[in-house]
Amino acid sequence: MGKNTFCTATLALAALLGSAAMNAPAVMAAQEKPSMEKFAAVSGIVGEKCMPCHSKGYDLPFYSKIPGIKDIIEKDYRDGLRALDLKTELVERKDAPVSEVTLAKMEWVTENKTMPPAKFTAVHWGSRMSDVDHKAVLDWVATTRAKLYATNAAPKRANEPIQPIQPLPQESPAKVALGEKLYNDKRLSGDNTVACVTCHQLDQGGIDNLRYSEGIKKQVGGINAPTVFNAAFNVRQFWNGRAADLQEQAGGPPFNPIEMGSKDWNEVIAKLKEDKELTEAFTAVYADGWSGKNITDAIAAFERTLVTPDSRFDLWLKGDDKALTEQELRGYNLFKAYRCASCHTGKAVGGQSFEYVDLKGPYFADRAKNPNDKPSDEDLGLMGFTKNPDDKHRFKVPTLRNVELTAPYMHDGLALTLDETIDIMGKYLSGMNVPPKDREDITAFLRTLTGKYKGEPVKGSVVKK
Ligand code: HEC
Ligand code: HEC
Ligand code: HEC
Repeated sequence: MGKNTFCTATLALAALLGSAAMNAPAVMAAQEKPSMEKFAAVSGIVGEKCMPCHSKGYDLPFYSKIPGIKDIIEKDYRDGLRALDLKTELVERKDAPVSEVTLAKMEWVTENKTMPPAKFTAVHWGSRMSDVDHKAVLDWVATTRAKLYATNAAPKRANEPIQPIQPLPQESPAKVALGEKLYNDKRLSGDNTVACVTCHQLDQGGIDNLRYSEGIKKQVGGINAPTVFNAAFNVRQFWNGRAADLQEQAGGPPFNPIEMGSKDWNEVIAKLKEDKELTEAFTAVYADGWSGKNITDAIAAFERTLVTPDSRFDLWLKGDDKALTEQELRGYNLFKAYRCASCHTGKAVGGQSFEYVDLKGPYFADRAKNPNDKPSDEDLGLMGFTKNPDDKHRFKVPTLRNVELTAPYMHDGLALTLDETIDIMGKYLSGMNVPPKDREDITAFLRTLTGKYKGEPVKGSVVKK
């Protein structure tokens, strides 16, 4: 039905405008046009042919006001923004180089020639991407990636959306040792029963393998615990991004009534102060002594050492062709083909952007059929933090490093296997069904992402399917 309405509208529009107008570049009555400089060699293409649908704050082109075409364009505009918001790049990330997520997303649509959508180019001829445009975008993605992000990859792998993971710069060993002690210290909790490590076990993939974690007095939370391994690479912390970094994050759980249930830092410090040995170690690192700020600084320093390099996939990225089997390599190529790498990119294979879990399908309406479904405020995602309705159902893309060890999956912890999770991803995030054969290969690839901690393979319970 949508198609028919559209054809009529197209004809009406063609009659109205004539071909000259249709060849005109997109008219953007922009309030204040941000600089397109970070798109360098392709700024012209992006500004003219992508921005109209992918950046909030631009007026829609004039023809969008024409009855009939208006509804179609407005829907495209909303869907387009949800899939890729270039305003984030041009305004919020103004001073940062173009992100790996934007590069990967643009690469996929360019390789597959899906943008601008055909129904749009059918009306607005000037906006069609030529072969020259396609090549320009792909060249720009490759050079940008090689220059900015592929610093540890072998030259022949410099154009991959995933990068080898490297240990972070060495920190003061005394501070890290102190942070490790505090990470394991149950005195951070109100009744001395729960430590960070209770829910983020380092011999269990950095998690607790539960759907929802259990805090003090056996209280159960309402969201799945992500792994602490490689959390240092996240743009922000928590599923909804409410903590800017690891230090801010570490100040949360101690006072969460369900997790650790302490009253305030004074209560925690009063207990820790009594420990003479610990206090000595603490003041050796922090001359100004006990404070919440210093405690979280030490914990964060320890967490920055929870990086897991040297997975088989990293060896492959660094040039070792034999590191992957044929099936695993096929799985990686499918991972790219099914658009997974558009969101799961970079060193951590995720952690860089907030995406809609219902991007391509009604995730929550379908989930309601699951007998274990219980909608909660946690489902708001990023909106729970920003209060912006446009952020409803947006979640931080989780890292896929060590993912075979971190079941159950997703923020709601409802998917028990990788099979299930990949089905969900295909249906609601990629918008493509993943048949069982391809799913098997993708799973084989995902299992190559298990790295090493302190020189040993990361320990945990390996998910079967
Ligand atoms: C007429 C509006 C329009 C224009 C112009 C447009 N897009 Fe899109 N874009 C969309 C819509 C709508 C979607 C959502 C997917 C869909 O419905 O096909 C989308 C999705 C995307 C996605 C996410 C992948 C996906 O399919 O969800 C990327 C990346 C993207 N566009 C990039 C671009 C680039 C790069 C350009 C310029 C070359 C561009 N778009 C031009 C409307 C547009
Ligand atoms: C009772 C279980 C529990 C305890 C104790 C706990 N956490 Fe968590 N942790 C969670 C859950 C659940 C989340 C996800 C919450 C959310 O996103 O809203 C989380 C999130 C995190 C994240 C964010 C990871 C990401 O990918 O966004 C980090 C880092 C983290 N915890 C570290 C710690 C540290 C450090 C401590 C001790 C100070 C701690 N946790 C104590 C359960 C726990
Ligand atoms: C549009 C972005 C996007 C695409 C495309 C995408 N993902 Fe995801 N992925 C996410 C987000 C966001 C989550 C978390 C959703 C939630 O918890 O509600 C996630 C979660 C996951 C998880 C669970 C990890 C965990 O620790 O809970 C796995 C595994 C996964 N994705 C694999 C894939 C695979 C395989 C594909 C391709 C078939 C894919 N993803 C495509 C954004 C994406």
